[in-house]
Amino acid sequence: MLRINGLTKQFGGLRVLDEVSFQVPEGIIYGLIGPNGAGKTTLFNLITGILKSNTGTVHLGDELLTGLPPHRVTQAGIGRTFQNIRIFREMTLLENVMVGMHDHLRYGLAGTLLALPSHRREEKRGRERARELLSWLSLDTKATIEAGSLSYGEQRKLELARALATEPKVLLIDEPAAGMNPAETEELMGEITCISRRGYTILLIEHDMRLVMGLCQRIAVLNFGVLIAEGAPAEIRCNPEVVEAYLGKDV
Ligand SMILES: Nc1ncnc2c1ncn2[C@@H]1O[C@H](COP(=O)(O)OP(=O)(O)O)[C@@H](O)[C@H]1O
Ligand SMILES: [Mg+2]
Repeated sequence: MLRINGLTKQFGGLRVLDEVSFQVPEGIIYGLIGPNGAGKTTLFNLITGILKSNTGTVHLGDELLTGLPPHRVTQAGIGRTFQNIRIFREMTLLENVMVGMHDHLRYGLAGTLLALPSHRREEKRGRERARELLSWLSLDTKATIEAGSLSYGEQRKLELARALATEPKVLLIDEPAAGMNPAETEELMGEITCISRRGYTILLIEHDMRLVMGLCQRIAVLNFGVLIAEGAPAEIRCNPEVVEAYLGKDV
């Protein structure tokens, strides 16, 4: 589904990704782990076109994403969340999600100004879809309140609903459980599993090892920009290089 081939990224003299290659099969939750500064978020920025790689390619199915601007990558079917929350605090949850789907609502400015029936239908459809996406994250009861009044954990989930609003084939999620308490993390794991079962392919960056091992069917491990391991969770857990690099020698 998503093919990453030989991606290298340098910032000045610092090589933060070094010939990284792996493939994310359709329909699974694929984990991307590694110590702080390993290059995980940079990899997301390369896939989404926010940054340009020095070498290498990214394909979504048969489509080459490398070189496309970010909005074209979104249109091609890549949705993402950010490591730091980026919601509109003064807007309602529904409005936040609907902002994410504006590419998919077909009416133009003229339709908006004239309040054409076709526009009202689109608007209604968008609103219904936004409510549905919020319900996937157990946020539908708060659809009409301001996003700024949500707890930190709920704001992270709103980010996910908004990423889904772009109707992606592949969803890139950057540390969704960061700052969540254990109960919120548990709930989130269930919700991400349900989203995956709805047919989405998910690439997940996560620090919480328990979350990664329980959630992902395959895992890639980055260390100082180098892919040091790739495989099923059981293989990753037993890989001595991973244990040393990621978990520390005393684990
Ligand atoms: N825009 C940038 N300019 C310079 N260095 C950067 C930039 N973005 C990230 N880096 C550096 O690249 C390395 C990898 O960062 P990052 O991808 O955020 O790691 P991770 O998400 O795995 O913690 C770090 O050393 C970071 O300081
Ligand atoms: Mg990061």
